[in-house]
Amino acid sequence: MDKMLVTSGRVLNGTVAASGAKNAALPILFSTLLAEGEHTFDNVPLLKDIDSTAELLKSLGCESIRGEGPNQHTFKVNVSKLKTFEAHYDLVRKMRASILCLGPMLAKYGEATVSLPGGCAIGTRPIDLHLDAMKALGAEIELRDGYVFAKAKKLKGTTILFEKTTVGGTENLLMAAVLAEGKTIIENAAKEPEIVDLANYLIKMGAKITGHGTSVITVEGVDKLIPARHSIMPDRIEAGTLLIAGAITGGDVTVTKCQPHDLDALINKMKESGFKIDVTENSMRIHPLKRWKAVDITTAPHPLFATDLQAQFMALMTVAEGTSVISETVFENRFMHVTELMRLGADITPKTQVAVVRGKPGGLSAAPVMATDLRASASLVLAGLVAKGETLVSRIYHLDRGYENLEGKLISLGAQVKRVP
Ligand code: UD1
Repeated sequence: MDKMLVTSGRVLNGTVAASGAKNAALPILFSTLLAEGEHTFDNVPLLKDIDSTAELLKSLGCESIRGEGPNQHTFKVNVSKLKTFEAHYDLVRKMRASILCLGPMLAKYGEATVSLPGGCAIGTRPIDLHLDAMKALGAEIELRDGYVFAKAKKLKGTTILFEKTTVGGTENLLMAAVLAEGKTIIENAAKEPEIVDLANYLIKMGAKITGHGTSVITVEGVDKLIPARHSIMPDRIEAGTLLIAGAITGGDVTVTKCQPHDLDALINKMKESGFKIDVTENSMRIHPLKRWKAVDITTAPHPLFATDLQAQFMALMTVAEGTSVISETVFENRFMHVTELMRLGADITPKTQVAVVRGKPGGLSAAPVMATDLRASASLVLAGLVAKGETLVSRIYHLDRGYENLEGKLISLGAQVKRVP
């Protein structure tokens, strides 16, 4: 299993481009199940989670092909009548987002059998809201033998109010509603930019959707969708991580091919902390700063501070001046990185959903640490950039799930990082 050796002491400088967004690409790839024929996507990141999605689509009977060389970010999915409507446990357990095949299969074929995703490092993460939404559209749902068995002759539109904001739940419902009979109104819908990207692709295929990006989405069901071509939006979490990498080393880093507006909450907090950040429509530049202030953050659904940037921001706060209170309100157990950051010398008091970080500018020192999930891995690499000595981060397969060539990108900015077997 690969590890990453991060040597501190380099100030990052230069320009780096963000890749396509994992969290937009995954639902969009599953949405191909709604229309037979050839779908073409550009800016699809090279990630393990994309491979897992392709594998699941293949098991259902769809072929996907990634381009080569300069076309390696172009991805085609050929959908013909599915050979099975079952998403097997072996594939679903690799990636929770596999549950996103439920809505489209049910809407298109009136049938879907999907394994329950099971355990996860960042909380229990149930799928009850996805299932309630399918039931509200008229599906019969049965849970048996670790699987969800869903059936519906024809889904029927209705008004659905999510009692909690859910990104995946909103996406699954959206993909089911586009082929349902009549009008579906999704209330308390998630407003994440990735939902807008999914809606935009569904609209390209012929769906009738309005209100995406707001908390009320309206869908007029149509009889048929036709495959189209789409470029996946930039990854705001990766872009934010690279910005923090520049910040934590006191460097001058410009992230291009991104949408800074999607990162307003992060940018505002970094400015509050003392950083100077220049923003254009599709790039952002962080200016060098030697000392920065601790600030508090509370994660919440978009447009508030993203839970997927909490661990990376915490790394920045471990070397800030002062005390930062970090509150996690989206997931109930997303502080797994805290004990690892403490191994690097960080002074943190973790409580259930709040962590108090007493910053120690220049106060981290290297140690072997273990990645527990995708964003936690990123936070350990960021901390390693400034922890005196050589930090060995193990289990970095988590990183490969969601960051395209992170070490290459960091090296291009001058970091000393190395993948070791
Ligand atoms: C998506 C993102 C993930 C991000 C998260 C929150 C993808 C592939 N993943 O995950 O990176 O961290 O949004 O921004 O896009 N919940 C329920 N019942 C449900 C569904 C969710 O109780 O049926 C709870 C979850 O446990 C969690 C909260 O709702 O506490 C939000 O989860 P949700 O927005 O659904 O996250 P995901 O879609 O799984």
